Amino acid sequence: MRAVGVIPGKKEVTLVEHPAPQLTQDTEVRIRCLEVGICGTDKEISSFVYGTPPPHSDYLILGHESLGEVVEVGEAVRKVKPGDLVVPSVRRPCEHSECLPCRRGRQDFCVTGDFTERGIKMRHGYLTDVYVEAEEYLTQVPAELREIGVLVEPLTVTEKALSQIWHIQKRLPWIKSNDPSQPGQGLNAVVLGAGPVGLLAAMAMRLRGFSVWVYSRSAKPNPKAELIEAAGVTYVSSAQETPRVLAERVGRIDLIYEAAGIGELAFSVLEFLALNGILVLTGIPAPRPAVPFATESVARQLVLKNQIVLGTVNADLRDFQNGVDDLGMLRQRWPNEVRGLITGRYEMDAYRELLSGKSHGIKNVITITR
Ligand code: BGC
Ligand code: ZN
Repeated sequence: MRAVGVIPGKKEVTLVEHPAPQLTQDTEVRIRCLEVGICGTDKEISSFVYGTPPPHSDYLILGHESLGEVVEVGEAVRKVKPGDLVVPSVRRPCEHSECLPCRRGRQDFCVTGDFTERGIKMRHGYLTDVYVEAEEYLTQVPAELREIGVLVEPLTVTEKALSQIWHIQKRLPWIKSNDPSQPGQGLNAVVLGAGPVGLLAAMAMRLRGFSVWVYSRSAKPNPKAELIEAAGVTYVSSAQETPRVLAERVGRIDLIYEAAGIGELAFSVLEFLALNGILVLTGIPAPRPAVPFATESVARQLVLKNQIVLGTVNADLRDFQNGVDDLGMLRQRWPNEVRGLITGRYEMDAYRELLSGKSHGIKNVITITR
């Protein structure tokens, strides 16, 4: 069967012929891949700075943002049946018995670093006709989310970040720890970056009652700004307004959510973070030459303002379920805007253009099966 793979040893991104996988255990599910989203991580892997093939394979099949349809289930499978839509998670546990997070299904917090990731680290991904996955790593998606279900995985980045933020918020004595219904009510958030993760984060925060500003490069007017403003978010262009002006407009920045993968931008806005505020980093910046950094004033600020800088990577199964639930609510609230996040659907043959970094739009998707 066809698959899109990278061969790091030859520095090649290419179509590979891969044997169609079959069920080998009764807890496994065979899945027809419907769609795969392309993200910055895939582009990094395709430029050979990231990503590792499985042992004994010279290629790695790409793709970790998939929506699939179940075609066959092992005898012990209970959660899903043929015809169901599913989204598989990405990270798989390490094998060390002493790794408590991995032993408890929280490999997003693996402490040994020996976790694997489908389509990224030592496990083949989903950019292929058919894949097999254990039931425990699948989340079912309702049929009405067929058109946008491919957005679940990028949304899980936000789901994990928001649940972490909520844990942190609960350290403040006046936050009602027993009322998780509106965790962000009244918070002012600035999202850095208007890519899929940033825009999904902005919408998910609106759902929870945050006031949200997106701060991103492109000057206004532009399609991303129009899309997100329709969801009640204010778009501010970093080409038109400095971080100081942004801060004046927001008033009190409780949360900075970095989704642009530009460390310098995040730390230039940090100066304007309010007391007790949180800077969350979710983007993965590409290595760049170092720039001078005001270590003493940043350290002083973090202490005197009770602030937190939080990095967050990967998502666990709860985040996938929350992602499915939130996507359903986003669809009810802003159907056109959510659909509008998917700006291109392509055949598998378009992989080269999509992975080379030249493509534009918001989320580009490869359609495998219609
Ligand atoms: C994926 C995560 C993964 C991270 C680092 C992201 O693109 O969504 O699941 O942990 O890359 O490999
Ligand atoms: Zn990704």
